[in-house]
Amino acid sequence: MLINNKTYRTIWYDNISQSVKIIDQTKLPFKLEIISLKNLDDVIRAINEMKVRGAPLIGATAAYGIYLAFKELKNKRKTIKAASKIKETRPTAINLFWAVNKMLSKIDDNLNINEIEKVLFKEAEEICENDIEQCKKIGKNGLEIIKKIYKDKKEKVNILTHCNAGWLATIDWGTATAPIYFAKKSNLNVHVWVDETRPRNQGASLTSYELNNEGVKNTIITDNTAGLLMQRGQIDLCIVGADRVTNKGHVANKIGTFMKAVIAKEFNIPFYVAIPTTTIDWKTESYEDIIIEERADAELSQITGLDEENKIKTIKIYPNDSKVYNPAFDITPNKFISSFITDKGIINANYKEIARLKDE
Ligand code: MRU
Repeated sequence: MLINNKTYRTIWYDNISQSVKIIDQTKLPFKLEIISLKNLDDVIRAINEMKVRGAPLIGATAAYGIYLAFKELKNKRKTIKAASKIKETRPTAINLFWAVNKMLSKIDDNLNINEIEKVLFKEAEEICENDIEQCKKIGKNGLEIIKKIYKDKKEKVNILTHCNAGWLATIDWGTATAPIYFAKKSNLNVHVWVDETRPRNQGASLTSYELNNEGVKNTIITDNTAGLLMQRGQIDLCIVGADRVTNKGHVANKIGTFMKAVIAKEFNIPFYVAIPTTTIDWKTESYEDIIIEERADAELSQITGLDEENKIKTIKIYPNDSKVYNPAFDITPNKFISSFITDKGIINANYKEIARLKDE
């Protein structure tokens, strides 16, 4: 997708520097900075510090991390040990575990070191390419939903989204945003209400930034505003992403998603969750079994922005002795979800339909 009219992906391998290139998302929207990940430690730091974030992109970065680890260690046992360190970075996004396990499964004892290196590189690249294809399919499938609403309403379609499930959270296109980009390309009149998404403001800093760059009309609202807009009929549908979906269709996504889904149900507003099938946790049914990541207090008590001299500055906004609690995700039970928009079609949030995706 576009940044300043130039096409980017969120991650790629640079042969000249022999490193993985990423956009440092902690600097957006104020500065576009491309940084290099040269080894496993760089990868772990980038995921921990959320220089890359969003379930599919975390998975892709971890995949390159396994490649870089093997390239350095040249040993299967040591790479498996290194993989457990990557898995400790962010516990909720299932794509991380999926990608690491997929990479490890490619280390074949019958191959020599050079061959294994090549296989791992190819696999990491394929994980990225497949994610792009899946997001495009989500876009095409979701477009049909927006088209239908537009046909019935015959005027601007207002979509609410939460956090950033845009292209910056994937490799390209995004999950929740892919149908929106397809709608824009089909000349449908769409407008996006962007939840600010405290504490890290992924909505305001990332989603609005990427929609602006693609020329999609959008308005940032605080996380407390959507209820009023739904009550006034100013939201036609909600589309969010997910970090993990249980086999019964319960959804772990950025904190605040659950509240939006409950209010949407109250007003009969469809609530869609856009996911690639790589976000499904086939083994977990109960949402109590999902580990909810808890992050640093500083994410709440400090805020980063531009000062009068246009310099990026972080300031403290709470009393020094106040306590805070910062769970990063919540769970939306399946009864609040109208449908999943997946790369394999639009399906209901129940065990039977989700299982069907696996069999195909
Ligand atoms: O903490 P983050 O920024 O990694 O959380 C991101 C989200 O919650 C996204 O909605 C989710 O990963 C889906 S990304 C396509």
